[in-house]
Amino acid sequence: MNKPLFSNYRPISHRRPAPFKNFYFGAAYYPEHWDSSLLDNDAGRMAAAGFNVVRMGEFAWHMMEPREGEFDFAFFDEAIARLARHGIMTIMCTPTAAAPRWLTQHYPDTLRVDSESRPLQHGSRQQCCSSNFRYREFSRRISSAMQTHFLDNPHVIGWQTDNEMNCHFSECHCLSCQEEFRHFLQQKYVSIDRLNTAWGTVFWALHFDDFGQIETPRPNRPTYCNPSQQLDYSRFLSHSAAMFQRDQVEILREAGRDWFIFHNGCMRNIDYRGDFSRDLDILGYDSYPMFVHSAVSRRFSHAYNLDSIRSLTGNFIIPEHQSGPGGQAPYLLGTPEPGEMRKLSYVSIARGGDSLLYFRWRTCRFGAEEYWCGILDHDDVPRRRYQETCRIGAELRLLGPELHGTFVKIDCAVAVRDYDTSTAHKIYPLGLPSPDQIAECVHKWLYGNGFEAGCVHPEDDLSGIKLYVIPHWEIIRPEWVPLLENYVRNGGVLVIGARSGTRTVDNQITAASFPGALSDLVGATVEEYGKQNPEAERVLYLKTAKSRILSEHWYEVLRLHQAENYATWDNRFQAGLPAISIRSLGRGKVIYVGTYLSEPVCAGLLPELVELAGLQKPWPQLPQEIEAVRRVAADRELIFLINHCEGEITAGSLPEGDLLVGLTGLKFEPYGVKVIRRHC
Ligand code: GAL
Repeated sequence: MNKPLFSNYRPISHRRPAPFKNFYFGAAYYPEHWDSSLLDNDAGRMAAAGFNVVRMGEFAWHMMEPREGEFDFAFFDEAIARLARHGIMTIMCTPTAAAPRWLTQHYPDTLRVDSESRPLQHGSRQQCCSSNFRYREFSRRISSAMQTHFLDNPHVIGWQTDNEMNCHFSECHCLSCQEEFRHFLQQKYVSIDRLNTAWGTVFWALHFDDFGQIETPRPNRPTYCNPSQQLDYSRFLSHSAAMFQRDQVEILREAGRDWFIFHNGCMRNIDYRGDFSRDLDILGYDSYPMFVHSAVSRRFSHAYNLDSIRSLTGNFIIPEHQSGPGGQAPYLLGTPEPGEMRKLSYVSIARGGDSLLYFRWRTCRFGAEEYWCGILDHDDVPRRRYQETCRIGAELRLLGPELHGTFVKIDCAVAVRDYDTSTAHKIYPLGLPSPDQIAECVHKWLYGNGFEAGCVHPEDDLSGIKLYVIPHWEIIRPEWVPLLENYVRNGGVLVIGARSGTRTVDNQITAASFPGALSDLVGATVEEYGKQNPEAERVLYLKTAKSRILSEHWYEVLRLHQAENYATWDNRFQAGLPAISIRSLGRGKVIYVGTYLSEPVCAGLLPELVELAGLQKPWPQLPQEIEAVRRVAADRELIFLINHCEGEITAGSLPEGDLLVGLTGLKFEPYGVKVIRRHC
């Protein structure tokens, strides 16, 4: 890991709060889309809604550098100044998500090349390659020009780099990528022999004589490609996004201003726990919960998405939050009902959002996103979304300062979003659910049953977590094993799902018996494994002392060494053989589950495991429709209570404390929210 780029760096952790002094509340604003006569009225209405910030400029490079090397920021100077008169500060963006036309016209080699060797056309956005040396040069140039220009502008308070890198297109096979990929591999392996061994190129005569023969893996081959090469290619894509961004971050930091810097995501082929995020002050997460169409599932997916993002680096800024319905030409998402935008916003804040900007201020009348509805409609008339924004803004005046320095309290967690293991699964899925899909099942069960659930990476601080589940992580780095052992010895209950530890960091199958690096800790090994035969016809069950549980997808028969039997297979040829092991170690336990932790297994097994871990529901008296989340600091606790029901609901009792947000009394309005503060 390279040295962080700034001196006040705080190590990433799911408990890391934002470095902000304020809660920033606002919207993505595109003054370039509107007549400038609207600006003062916009600023006045933003201030009335409680805004203190807008984000600008991410797609306006063509205005800032209309001709190569000629810079002109007058339009944005004017907009920033007019907003500032109403107390609205600006987060500027480096505009590299949309290159000007002169750039791609004069330098077509900057265009990304798809897997069929076709250069992408200019005509949308994100058409340039982040590894291309010339594009990087242009990116540095515009970043420097912006840094110098805005250096003395007191109303520019922070920066977003680019915009949702890798959102539309994360791969590239241009000439520059070929060279840079080889360079990346040469740095990593030094000798071609080491690369040949790491990739297993003796298979199918893939042997390389020198680095010059290596290409990015494209699908134009008769059949499947080498999985080790593919994982290194994904690592290269992530590295190249990180280095592209690092150019910009270094330039912005050279200004010596107290600007905060973030990026908004999170998209494909970027390791958000790696250099990419470590160079930033905080990660940004663009939250569009309505992408999940089912209103019933959305509650769970929204909580899971926020928790999994928080596991990457800690609390985050939400540079884009859904306000209205949204869509592009072929689709339109559902519409937040009255009160629902407020509810979604509070869920996002409760689960780690330390600032929030809506997408977008006003719905655009032209371009590819005519129906991505903002706070205001096309006709500029403030309607219910604006009224709701004003309500939230007024509430945040009180709540914002209280949130400062708090983190989300959890006592059970599931491991998610490890870049290598998630990518290894995508490369070689075997028709099985991904570890992150299964993590979502585990999270859904814990959260849905009223426990304080979250997501944590094994490298992170596991203190205070009583139950920790690692689902099917094929790549387990050996250096994590002592951390996990320490967690267990100190009283944690660690649950490991089938197929964990089966691959090396080179993405080959391990030479050791499964679960590889975890075998000693687990105290058992896998004697036989397989995908379940047609599940509907050859149904398979396992049996604990308390219940009979339907197994799905995969079975493993275990050989117990230092562990004891927790559950056996109950039928078919596996009947009577060990399916789940348990080992006592120090004050804790390690449980290895020889099947997938899919919904029936969660429903059958997790009730037993939460009991074993001594987990308590903090608010058992609350109705199921009410989500309760705590954000805590040394001296206070903020309890968010969120009604997910479209009707009114009355709680039997509420946690004690001062009501900071919401209506007094036990009643919750439809989608209503209360926030209660307690001093500790
Ligand atoms: C985000 C993107 C925005 C806008 C929005 C709505 O992914 O950053 O620029 O496109 O979605 O589609």
